Amino acid sequence: MSHDGRIALTKNGPSLSRLVFGAWRLLDGAGRPDAEAVARLIGTAVDLGLTSFDHADIYGNYEVEAAFGAGLARWTGKRDEIELISKCDIMLASDNRPQNRLKHYDTSAAHITASVDRSLANLGTDYLDLLLLHRPDPLMDADETAATLAGLVKSGKVRAVGVSNFTPSQFHLLASRLPFTLATNQIEMSVLKTSALTDGSLDHAQRLGYAPMVWSPLGGGSLFTGQEGREARVRAALAAVAAETGTGDLAAVAIAWLLRHPARLVPVLGSMKPERLAAMVKAIEIVLDRQHWFAILEASEGRPVA
Ligand SMILES: NC(=O)c1ccc[n+]([C@@H]2O[C@H](COP(=O)([O-])OP(=O)(O)OC[C@H]3O[C@@H](n4cnc5c(N)ncnc54)[C@H](OP(=O)(O)O)[C@@H]3O)[C@@H](O)[C@H]2O)c1
Repeated sequence: MSHDGRIALTKNGPSLSRLVFGAWRLLDGAGRPDAEAVARLIGTAVDLGLTSFDHADIYGNYEVEAAFGAGLARWTGKRDEIELISKCDIMLASDNRPQNRLKHYDTSAAHITASVDRSLANLGTDYLDLLLLHRPDPLMDADETAATLAGLVKSGKVRAVGVSNFTPSQFHLLASRLPFTLATNQIEMSVLKTSALTDGSLDHAQRLGYAPMVWSPLGGGSLFTGQEGREARVRAALAAVAAETGTGDLAAVAIAWLLRHPARLVPVLGSMKPERLAAMVKAIEIVLDRQHWFAILEASEGRPVA
């Protein structure tokens, strides 16, 4: 099933597909997909309406972007039919980065610039639709970081800038130095991880009018594999709602639960399986009523609301 719906992250900002394809786990399967298999997966995603692809320099131990880029080179579609998102600033202790003695963050001009250049080369493109700072960096010099991000936009290498895992206060610090609006904050949220409802993240997004992207919308898969009481309760609640709404698919209901929130959440789907992606895209057509939504929240929190 395809879906033509788009979502503008901010009023005059970039627009993405309503659901985004997350590339983090591209190389996690048993066999490493070759360029042809990646091209097929890109084609499947686009056919399903998932035209926006979420990357980071570090994914797959710094190897996902290049593997995706090899697939993109074989894919027969056009660059302007898709959106490429990437992130920078996490420095992994990795064989591929022997200079990193430990995991840390780097929002310096030198690192951001070099990281974006590498992402562009690896993906085989001359622009990113959206660049995110991956994690808040306690050593961020807001003036230096903002000037670097503004320069990247001015050069055309990056079309829009956002953040990820930022608190509202961290968001404002960076925003205060930028000549344009931050497009999004990509945060963790799911039926198993509901803190954004009450920690101010979603209030902030609505006050400023940006659509937050949401990572691990199925709890990284723990929704299906987890054996804790919470996971079992949420699965049962999702199954009940799936039955009552004639939906049939638990993952689709879990995504629909996110889409029901007025902050206009943009879930980033992590599955690499075409049939699972196809099932989740159906979430766009599911509208949960308040009592279905609250039944899932109640199951997640283990108690009715006060
Ligand atoms: N900004 C950040 O800090 C940050 C952090 C983490 C992730 N991300 C982004 O968010 C994206 C999504 O995160 P995520 O991968 O943790 O998302 P997720 O959708 O919560 O989890 C995906 C995992 O669930 C598994 N899964 C098991 N049963 C499933 C079912 N019935 N339906 C669908 N999936 C099922 C998938 O396996 P199969 O592949 O076998 O289906 C996959 O391993 C990432 O790709 C990345 O782009 C961002």
